[in-house]
Amino acid sequence: MRNKILDLLKHQQGEYVSGESISDTLNITRAAVWKQIQGLKEAGYDIEGQTRRGYRLLKTPSALDEWALQQDLRTEALGRRLLLFEELPSTNDWLKSLALQDAEHGTVVIAKRQNFGHGRMQRLWESPQGGVWLSILLKPRLSLADAAKLTLSTGVALAQTFKELYGLEVGIKWPNDLVYEGKKIAGILGEVAGEWNAVQSLILGVGVNANFPLQQLSPELAATTLLEIVGQEVNLNGLAATFLYNLEKETHSLEQGDLQGLIRRWTSFAVGINQPVRIDRAGTVYTGVFKGIRENGELILSHEGREMAFSSGEVTLRAEGQYSPN
Ligand code: ATP
Ligand code: BTN
Repeated sequence: MRNKILDLLKHQQGEYVSGESISDTLNITRAAVWKQIQGLKEAGYDIEGQTRRGYRLLKTPSALDEWALQQDLRTEALGRRLLLFEELPSTNDWLKSLALQDAEHGTVVIAKRQNFGHGRMQRLWESPQGGVWLSILLKPRLSLADAAKLTLSTGVALAQTFKELYGLEVGIKWPNDLVYEGKKIAGILGEVAGEWNAVQSLILGVGVNANFPLQQLSPELAATTLLEIVGQEVNLNGLAATFLYNLEKETHSLEQGDLQGLIRRWTSFAVGINQPVRIDRAGTVYTGVFKGIRENGELILSHEGREMAFSSGEVTLRAEGQYSPN
């Protein structure tokens, strides 16, 4: 009912729709229409009501909202099936179980908060209300090795989104963090769903610290939020929709074989290239200069005159300089 009212209001493109015509069209009482409109206003919809003319939709909410997000979507597949929850343990885990039930390519799960969000190696990812905690199911037309590169594509799509929407220079810290002035603003967790067989399923989880103050996170985290940087709340539906659009573009470009383009874009956003870094692999520390990434996403370290490659599963990258959040 809620969405049908929104559809009717949208259809009039900012013009008034009378309460009577809504009640006639949807076969509900005028009181029920009024009640629905109140609910929409509480959800952040800016709806003007005038006694004789009716209602008109002025603005959609900036808080996460399924209808509003669908309006902003410009994708072919990503987010066309969209599930929004008030709270989940983890959107990645939820989508993983949906994938086992044969959910379709592009399915997106979003939660307003998570109580068991996680990063790599099951590290806890704090996910208070006001963030964008979302996971996307992709069944790309790619080999297993190439599909793994979609975590790189996700980083590029996120960095592009921050630039386009807010003019922010957000960098990618290998392998899966997005950082602004050395502080983590977003993270990516790519996981394989089930067995890799004929139809490969990949889950890309993305967490963005958006509309909440820093005080909502543990003080020891080197983190920041969009609210801190931009100084006001941003539209989370627009943010999610733009990111999904950019990710779809990146996915298509990888499917068309443009790996070089991906590496180029990733490198243009990467922080710390040609700078001294420390790499911790299972307790052993390697120092050297961060030279970039290989086509398979491995980090290249110039260490004591030779090149070493590190894959993301097992290592932590730290700067000797200023850019690292740690
Ligand atoms: P690396 O720097 O190599 O990515 P990491 O220590 O950042 O390693 P990850 O698994 O990438 O580890 O990220 C999880 C870590 O992120 C947590 O251990 C915690 O320190 C930090 N973290 C948790 N929640 C948030 C958040 N909302 N914003 C920023 N950082 C967070
Ligand atoms: C990182 O360690 O930097 C990656 C964090 C990824 C967090 C996101 S939030 C949505 C999705 N659900 C999870 O449990 N994790 C990812």
